[in-house]
Amino acid sequence: MSDTHTLVTRRQFCAGACQMASCATLATLASACSGDDGSPTSPSGGGGGTSPLPVVSGQFTNSRVQVATSGSALANVDGTALVESVAGVFLVARTSTSTFVAIDATCTHEGCRVSSVSGATYVCPCHGSRYNRNGQVVQGPARASLRQYTTTFANDVLTIAV
Ligand code: FES
Repeated sequence: MSDTHTLVTRRQFCAGACQMASCATLATLASACSGDDGSPTSPSGGGGGTSPLPVVSGQFTNSRVQVATSGSALANVDGTALVESVAGVFLVARTSTSTFVAIDATCTHEGCRVSSVSGATYVCPCHGSRYNRNGQVVQGPARASLRQYTTTFANDVLTIAV
């Protein structure tokens, strides 16, 4: 009788121990899977000191994208913006009172939209590639430059030939 009682106790002990182990494993898995590392949506390798580019709308007509610069992030020299249009998205920098550089915002690595800036460098949020204002790679993994477009400027309107 004592042996039976001891056997039942062992079984109960084992069942309880297994249950506890299962709970601990589930808790560990839940914690690991929650992605709660404080930055669930932060990019991998985006680098510090980056900020999102302001977005400016562009109007597409006759193979050109036109952007009204007055009152926008491109109103002043050294201003930069992400210009969105139906013809594409462009990284635009104002390099003087009358000159701009417009480049394709599609990263040449895997096609993410380059949408942040760090100083004079554009930063891809996906894997941290960096490009200078002319679209040349200054840090990989991207290897190819971003395509640059011809621009003209008159009457506070930037025109990007696409
Ligand atoms: S898609 Fe831009 S760095 Fe990978």
